[in-house]
Amino acid sequence: MKLLVVCLGNICRSPMGEGALRARIGEAGLDSWVQVDSAGTSGHWHAGRSPDPRAVACARGHGVDISGQRARQLLAADFEEYDLILCADGDNLRDAQALAPAGLAARAVLWLPWAGINGSDVIPDPYYGDMKDFEHSWALIDAAAQVTVRRLSRREDSGIIPA
Ligand code: 4NP
Repeated sequence: MKLLVVCLGNICRSPMGEGALRARIGEAGLDSWVQVDSAGTSGHWHAGRSPDPRAVACARGHGVDISGQRARQLLAADFEEYDLILCADGDNLRDAQALAPAGLAARAVLWLPWAGINGSDVIPDPYYGDMKDFEHSWALIDAAAQVTVRRLSRREDSGIIPA
């Protein structure tokens, strides 16, 4: 099972998503069969960069080290490689699906609604905000990560792949 978390720049939300998922996957003992990566729909500003220092600090405050991640751009080939592409917001979903090879667009979903998180459809972009915004995004991301891993660990994964 391969999961890919996607946002715009791959320096704030999706690195936190990758980190939260990896931590929850580790706690659940699923490392051997679930793999996680993250990518951004817009690679040209940020490819190769470390996560935003505020994202690193936020994750560290929750016991998760994301400092070793490096940004990369989402590729059409990711739709072949990953079972589920978890998008942070509607723009990310639209831009991701525009890259999808024929028949694979449904592998990309809006992460929060897919996970059944109430109250918000999108993970707000904290890039122009402050640490409070990063904490708010982290709370949504980690809630989604917990549901995602719970579904995987209950082996409800027969229906987990949308297409
Ligand atoms: P992300 O946040 O998509 O969560 O990584 C952003 C990072 C950079 C920019 C926008 C959003 N930017 O405009 O540079």
